[in-house]
Amino acid sequence: MCPPAYFDVKYVINPWMDATTPVDAELAVKQWDRLRETLIELGHRVHVLAPQVGLPDMVYAANGAFSVDSTVFGARFRYPQRAAEAAAHQAFYARLSSEEAPGEDAGGTRAGWRFVAPTEINEGEGDFTYVPGPGLILAGYGFRTEPAAHAEAQEVLARPVISLRLVDPRFYHLDMALAVLDDTTIAYYPGAFSASAQAVLRQLFPDAVVASESDALGFGLNLVSDGRNVVLSAEASDMAARLVAAGYLPRLVELTELKKGGGSVKCCVAELRG
Ligand code: ARG
Repeated sequence: MCPPAYFDVKYVINPWMDATTPVDAELAVKQWDRLRETLIELGHRVHVLAPQVGLPDMVYAANGAFSVDSTVFGARFRYPQRAAEAAAHQAFYARLSSEEAPGEDAGGTRAGWRFVAPTEINEGEGDFTYVPGPGLILAGYGFRTEPAAHAEAQEVLARPVISLRLVDPRFYHLDMALAVLDDTTIAYYPGAFSASAQAVLRQLFPDAVVASESDALGFGLNLVSDGRNVVLSAEASDMAARLVAAGYLPRLVELTELKKGGGSVKCCVAELRG
C-alpha cells in the first residue's frame, strides 16, 4: 500500500475524476490508515511504498504490478501522468527480494521476487486478477490494458489468461467490476462486460456472486478478500448483504476521498502472491 500523502485530483483520466471537486487531504490519509489497520487486524502483513511528490495517483498501488508464484509482471501505464509509478514498484520488489532472505518471510518459503518488465501497456492488478483454485488469470481490456498484454502476461506468468472485454467506461479497470472472493469464487457485475465476456464468466463461474449496477457504482466490487473476510467500501451496503448471504464476513471501510480519484479498497492494495 502507498499512503495518499500527495493524493489530489488535478487531472482527469477516468469518469470519476473531477478536477474541480476539492479533496480533503487529511481525511484521505485517515481513511487510508483505517484501511491499513483493518488489514493488519485481519492478520495480514502490509508493506508500505514511499509516496512521491507529483504522483497523486500512487495511492492506487494495485496498478503498479501483478504477481503470481513470486514472478512480478511490471506495469506500463496508459497515461503519462502515472508512467513514473512503474519504476517505484519495480524498485519495491527489488528491495523486498534483498531484504527477505529465503525462509525469513512470515510465510517462511519466499525466495525472492523475479521481476519481468512489460512491453505492452498494462495496469497491473487494475486489469489482472488471479483465481488460485483453477490457477487462472482473469484479464480486462477495453480502456487501459492492451489485449496484447494479456498474451504477454501468459508468457511471463505461465498461467492461462482469460481475456474479458470491458464495455462501460465507468468500470475502466477489471477490478471495478470483478473480484476474487476465495480460491474458486468470484463476484462480478455483468453489465461491465461485453456479451461474450459475460458468457465466458457464466461458463467458468456458474456459482459466482452476481452484483448489481448499484453495487458496482458504490465500488462494492473493488474489494479485497482473504477467502473469508471481505474488506469493501462502506457505501456498498447491498453488496455487503450479498456477501453475508454467500457466507463471507464483510468489513466495511469509508474511502470517500479516494473515490474522487476513481478508486477504492482494491485499488489501494497490491497483493503479493509469493
Ligand atoms: N485515478 C486513477 C486512474 O485513473 C485511479 C486508479 C484506480 N485503481 C484501480 N485499481 N482501479 O488511473
